[in-house]
Amino acid sequence: MNIKDLQKKQAAEAAIEYIKSDMVVGLGTGSTVSYFLDALAKSDRRIVGVTTSKVTSEHCAALKIPIIDIDEVDHIDVTIDGADEVDTYLNGIKGGGAALLMEKIVAKNSKENIWIVDSSKVHDTLGSFPLPVEVIPYGSGQLLRQFTDKGLFPKLRRSQIDNQPVITDAGHYIIDCHMTTINNPYALADYFESQVGVVEHGLFLNICDRVIIGGETIQIQERQ
Ligand code: A5P
Repeated sequence: MNIKDLQKKQAAEAAIEYIKSDMVVGLGTGSTVSYFLDALAKSDRRIVGVTTSKVTSEHCAALKIPIIDIDEVDHIDVTIDGADEVDTYLNGIKGGGAALLMEKIVAKNSKENIWIVDSSKVHDTLGSFPLPVEVIPYGSGQLLRQFTDKGLFPKLRRSQIDNQPVITDAGHYIIDCHMTTINNPYALADYFESQVGVVEHGLFLNICDRVIIGGETIQIQERQ
């Protein structure tokens, strides 16, 4: 196992401490969450999960972790998710796995949000990871032009297998914006939220309460 995977696993296993039996737990998407699901299944915690993607639902089914539809619960106690990048304010970029829409819906409906990451994802300023933006396929070419004009260096995400556009679980496209530095994430979030055809963007601002960072010593950062 390489160092990043080892740290992902360490962070995922440390997150079990924040889970109590009978909780409704939001379950994110990605390789780090996959380690968390494995650890959860081995633990003595008996929870019900609200999933954020087909792949996480399938993993839960394989591990016999019970899940429930988000609209069947009146609250979500805590959500455990990965992230693609996290800054010092615990703002982040998510959506590398194309699950950002459901991840944000689950996160916004959770009492607490905990991210589990390896240390390579923690940066002073966001932007090293291309920012995913989920868009309606109709008119997505126009959005690509607008994003180019705004200097966002957009690229439609395509499958590495057949080069066709990646389709999200909700039937949308993903445009990745390769900016390298995001100086004002709040202004950028406002911009995306004002564009017709944008369904959601991968800037998760003021959402994460706690980040668990894997490493020889596990680091835990809390939002002030
Ligand atoms: C899924 O769309 C993403 O938001 C993931 O949470 C993020 O990409 C982290 O993935 P890994 O845990 O695989 O690095």
